[in-house]
Amino acid sequence: MERTYIMVKPDGVERGLVGEITKRFENKGFQLLALELKAPSREHLEKHYADLSAKPFFGGLIKYMTSGPVVAMVWQGKGVVKAGRVLLGETNPLASLPGTIRGDFALDVGRNICHGSDSVESAEKEIALWFPQGVISHNRVIEKLIYE
Ligand code: PPS
Repeated sequence: MERTYIMVKPDGVERGLVGEITKRFENKGFQLLALELKAPSREHLEKHYADLSAKPFFGGLIKYMTSGPVVAMVWQGKGVVKAGRVLLGETNPLASLPGTIRGDFALDVGRNICHGSDSVESAEKEIALWFPQGVISHNRVIEKLIYE
């Protein structure tokens, strides 16, 4: 089953949006495999965002991401990588539709509340980076109510 890495960024944690964000993933039917409040180091975040190191906003992004704790999560389910990004909305919150997390709660790309993996491959890399100890695998009894 597909898995994705979802992170509530420091502004989302500070604004008390952790419950709101996890609720939307639960409501959709996705299964929570891991959740932890973390204070990642600059080095850890530079690894997470390594592909963006040449971008002009990289310094600001790392500063923002080290401004407070984040909530790191792993979610599992059918098509969860793409569907997770639909739930989050566009990277630029002003381009995000109402009903998405960023469309409902954010205005600025540099304060866009949440992160979601952009492919199955990067999801697995990010899960390994944030949860090197692995995640709990468990079978839900409600599975037959969610999948045909
Ligand atoms: S790019 O330029 O197309 O590679 O960037 P994009 O895929 O749109 O975004 C990748 C992540 O960089 C964050 N980002 C920014 N942060 C701060 N300031 C600015 N201007 C900015 N532009 C993009 C964006 O939120 C993405 O972070 P994640 O955590 O992956 O959502």
